[in-house]
Amino acid sequence: MTIFVTGGAGFIGSNFIFFMLNNHPEDRIVCLDKLTYAGNLSTLKDIMDSPNFRFVKLDICDREGVYKLFEEEKPDVVVNFAAESHVDRSIENPEVFLQTNILGTQVLMDACRKYGIQRFHQVGTDEVYGDLPLDRPDLFFTETTPIHASSPYSASKASADLLVLAYHRTFGLPVTVSRCSNNYGPYQFPEKLIPLMIANALNDKPLPVYGKGENVRDWLYVEDHCKAIDCILRKGRDGEVYNIGGHNEMKNIDIVKLICKTLGKPESLITYVTDRKGHDMRYAIDPAKIHRELGWLPETKFADGIQKTIQWYLDHKAWWEEIISGDYQNYYQRMYGDR
Ligand code: NAD
Ligand code: TYD
Repeated sequence: MTIFVTGGAGFIGSNFIFFMLNNHPEDRIVCLDKLTYAGNLSTLKDIMDSPNFRFVKLDICDREGVYKLFEEEKPDVVVNFAAESHVDRSIENPEVFLQTNILGTQVLMDACRKYGIQRFHQVGTDEVYGDLPLDRPDLFFTETTPIHASSPYSASKASADLLVLAYHRTFGLPVTVSRCSNNYGPYQFPEKLIPLMIANALNDKPLPVYGKGENVRDWLYVEDHCKAIDCILRKGRDGEVYNIGGHNEMKNIDIVKLICKTLGKPESLITYVTDRKGHDMRYAIDPAKIHRELGWLPETKFADGIQKTIQWYLDHKAWWEEIISGDYQNYYQRMYGDR
């Protein structure tokens, strides 16, 4: 099979490519990525010369370029990771989120219709369901929970999901959608909670916790997410949505304290800052459907995954130091300067 992986120079897309090359060497992977601030070619350097891998710098909104590549490569499967993915940036500037996340997805699906495809898979997020209250630990997001997005990011991802499902119903396009909880692991851009706190702690910089740090996220090790997507590609049913999560709920403040403890840094680095606008309180996935129908279960416990992740950032300082030495400094100043 030839598999198009969009956004493969980002966090989850790159982990997915490594997973597929290791586990399905018979498949050919073509990575399309615009290389925005979040895309990093150095992540893919070890596989650039692999015979069954090709990298193409391409914006998924570029209809002509996308059609040309479809004509040339004739993909069997498309997995769409390409997106603007950071909530705080979507609050600062929503426009590009709508462009890439919604219109870019449409371009890809139009190409799939034009050239034919076995499966289009949309990588979605649990954030489309909005949030759950902290005092109702019995509630979880299922695939039938109403869409109730809070941020421009989640609204754009919800729109994309709806469009994907509409292309299935209207045009019969063979699609699947997954909605995953928060991922962590190697190669995550250091604007997100876990790598940001690791990088700041290692540099003895303040650790900016939004609000009271009571917000809860349901953390999944990135490799488990990749395995779930692979399962859906091979066994999932067309037109279906699958929630992916591992019942690993943690409060932000507890994660930050755990990072301090593991790195031997004082908790006095923790600084409570102005809360995010519209900040979702709790995300929690019910993964019963993907377990029941496809046999998927998460394999990495949070206690092990977080240690592996911290060790990875210790072992790959050059990767993230390069990132935070560039334009990231301007972003950091804008976001945290007088917060
Ligand atoms: P990321 O920001 O690390 O990577 C996004 C990648 O997409 C980058 O390589 C970027 O260059 C590329 N990209 C952006 N705009 C593009 C465009 N117009 N054309 C081509 N490429 C473009 O994001 P991530 O954390 O790896 O997330 C990947 C996907 O998974 C996203 O769709 C996101 O919504 C979804 N998701 C993420 C999480 C999470 O916890 N990170 C959880 C659930 C779902
Ligand atoms: P993030 O990694 O941005 O993921 P998401 O908002 O998509 O869940 O944030 C995870 C949680 O951590 C979220 O509740 C916001 C919080 N947070 C902080 O407290 N401080 C920070 O500097 C960042 C980036 C996030």
